[in-house]
Amino acid sequence: MNEQTLKATAAALTANGKGLLAMDESNPTADKRFAALGIPQTPEMRRAYRDMIVTAPGLSESIGGAILYDETIRTKTFADVPFAEALGKVGIIPGIKVDAGARPLALHDGELVTEGLDGLRERLAEYSKMGARFAKWRAVITIDDAKNAPSRGCYEANAQALARYAALCQEAGIVPIVEPEVLMDGAHTLARCAEATERALHFVFDALRTQRVLLEGMILKPNMVVPGLKCPTQDSVDDVADATVRVFRRSVPAAVGGIAFLSGGQSAPDASARLNAMHVRHGDALPWPLAFSFARAIQDPAMKAWAGKKENVAAAQKALVERAHLNRLAREGKYTV
Ligand code: 13P
Repeated sequence: MNEQTLKATAAALTANGKGLLAMDESNPTADKRFAALGIPQTPEMRRAYRDMIVTAPGLSESIGGAILYDETIRTKTFADVPFAEALGKVGIIPGIKVDAGARPLALHDGELVTEGLDGLRERLAEYSKMGARFAKWRAVITIDDAKNAPSRGCYEANAQALARYAALCQEAGIVPIVEPEVLMDGAHTLARCAEATERALHFVFDALRTQRVLLEGMILKPNMVVPGLKCPTQDSVDDVADATVRVFRRSVPAAVGGIAFLSGGQSAPDASARLNAMHVRHGDALPWPLAFSFARAIQDPAMKAWAGKKENVAAAQKALVERAHLNRLAREGKYTV
């Protein structure tokens, strides 16, 4: 394992107040988001959309790394440059989603386990040749108290898979983004999310240690600690920030290369305001870089502005870069609505 390369890449991803852009929606997810806006669901439209993103002027001022999907890393921009190379040229580190998606966990009604370990060593070698320097694997944890979920089986199976994936990445010189996502779906409280998130993190770091993963050479991509979308009590920005920092200070070793939150269905302004409050209220008590790795909370306004039309590309790029910039400000505690 090349420890120096891994540490340097992990540090570079969140350096200078920047964060990550997740633009690695699988084809079904990208198509679902296109369909909601009346955009045709074709490979050419996905390419056009992602071309709009990587050619957005000024994106690299706030974005240190971008996560691609398999289809995109094998495709070229309209300027005939492979997407990974186009990102590298503007100073954005290219990454790749390598999990094969979450599937039902056997004998665990309603719970999921992420698949994709088979053949992963070979796929990582191929992606590395294509320029990927980091990777992502997303595990999904569902809170459903009526079904006693999350179960121990779900926590353990997902933590195991994350740790084996992370070790394979580091063997290949690729920085793993370790993403255990406790979903916002449901009516659970902030306290319940805090409990499930803390538990998930303990299982994950236990498994990472067992699999000998170098903490300095990885990035954690967690959910923020938030109430369920249907919870009648929607806590204040400050309460979310306090609960989130408390859980991560308790659960994440200081050696970890960085934490970069997913947005998980929060509105773009909510995600930025909450990240901002963490820095305003706890900036001196964070042992790791605390950044963002948003998909929807950066892209949503841009995708709406684009709407699949060439004449809207400049407006969409402006919306994208603006949202990325606002999240950079949030990292400095300088975000205002
Ligand atoms: P969201 O920010 O839309 O949750 O996406 C982040 C991500 O990459 C999920 O895997």
